[in-house]
Amino acid sequence: MTISNNNLFPVHHEILGRNEKETLLNQHSKVIWLTGLSGAGKTTLAKHLEIELFNRGYLTQVLDGDNVRTGINSNLGFSDPDRYENIRRIAEVSKLMANCGVITINCFISPTEEIREMARCIIGPDDFIEIYVNAPLEVCEDRDIKGLYSRARRGEIKEFTGISSPFETPRQVDIEIRTDLLSIEESVKQVIELVLPRIEI
Ligand code: ADX
Repeated sequence: MTISNNNLFPVHHEILGRNEKETLLNQHSKVIWLTGLSGAGKTTLAKHLEIELFNRGYLTQVLDGDNVRTGINSNLGFSDPDRYENIRRIAEVSKLMANCGVITINCFISPTEEIREMARCIIGPDDFIEIYVNAPLEVCEDRDIKGLYSRARRGEIKEFTGISSPFETPRQVDIEIRTDLLSIEESVKQVIELVLPRIEI
């Protein structure tokens, strides 16, 4: 739902801008966007990546579907429009964080090209690093860490991504991480090599 209001005057030029904050933190802020099926390993990768970046002196914030959906997005479900709104809000939050100099690591299925493109547009392509955390559906289903796939197969959960709701293969990613083939250490190493040159001052 879009509410238009002609009586709003957003202030985009604060006294302290993003550059000053990035200088304070000694980092360029980016949004590291992990897309992939539930159980593909987005959250695990994000946690390890955050520790690796922290140890190198970078300030980050992990945003995760399961957390955000119990807080700011607790009124949203898994219909197409709700998923779109979920990602739209997260993209706006990530943009605010980037303006604060903070690097966000986002773990959201973000299942369609349209949704990912919308996030890229809101955040701005220069700040958006898209990572496809990929494990075949069979592997995710086999892992079934939260027990959701079996419930989805039994029809207890509707519109479940990969089972009864689509996941479109990402087409314009910066890197693909095959979590069924790589160790967590190797996955983090590959992401670090991609990300470091873009966040170093
Ligand atoms: S997204 O599609 O809108 O990007 P998001 O990443 O926020 O999804 O949330 C996904 C998480 O919600 C999954 O990891 C899973 O734990 C939980 N979940 C609950 N119901 C569903 C569903 N129908 N489809 C996918 N994930 C679901």
